Amino acid sequence: MELPFLYKELSLPSPPPHLLPDSNPVNLKKIMREYQSQMILKNGKHSTSVENNLYYLKPELEAWIKENICDSFNDVGLKYNFFTNERTFLAPHTDVTRHYVLIYNLLSGDGDLVFWKETNFPVQRQTFTRHLPANYDDLEEVLRIKTPSQKWFIMNGSVLHSVENLLNDRVQLQVSLNVNPFE
Ligand SMILES: [Fe+2]
Repeated sequence: MELPFLYKELSLPSPPPHLLPDSNPVNLKKIMREYQSQMILKNGKHSTSVENNLYYLKPELEAWIKENICDSFNDVGLKYNFFTNERTFLAPHTDVTRHYVLIYNLLSGDGDLVFWKETNFPVQRQTFTRHLPANYDDLEEVLRIKTPSQKWFIMNGSVLHSVENLLNDRVQLQVSLNVNPFE
């Protein structure tokens, strides 16, 4: 199977601790975008994915990212996946607001980032379009990664991806890009 660019860990500076957001969800007030939980058939059972919001960053952190990581992007925010004992995965999807995303894990959630190929579709899906498979049985695993904490990486958001086997909340800085400057 010929694969498009999927994922790469990057040697980029870590944000200064005093600029980092408080990752306690009680203190996260300003939502940029809210994503509904998804229902999907998983091993034949209806399952619900984690809730998943994007919050605004402090302007000082946004300015630091612009200066030290990447000077042009679609948006930047704090992504929060709310783990519960019943909701332990982020369902397979493609991203709508970006082709690529730069990510820095504040809390990895201890899950697996998994890339998928849907039956009868190429691995690389149409960009800026939401694809939400209804059943894991239609998916073939392409790549599974434990994403590092306190390190930047870039991934292709237009290939179906999910987060499986979360054990904790997952909290990340995310920078949305149309092009990949690190390929
Ligand atoms: Fe995504």
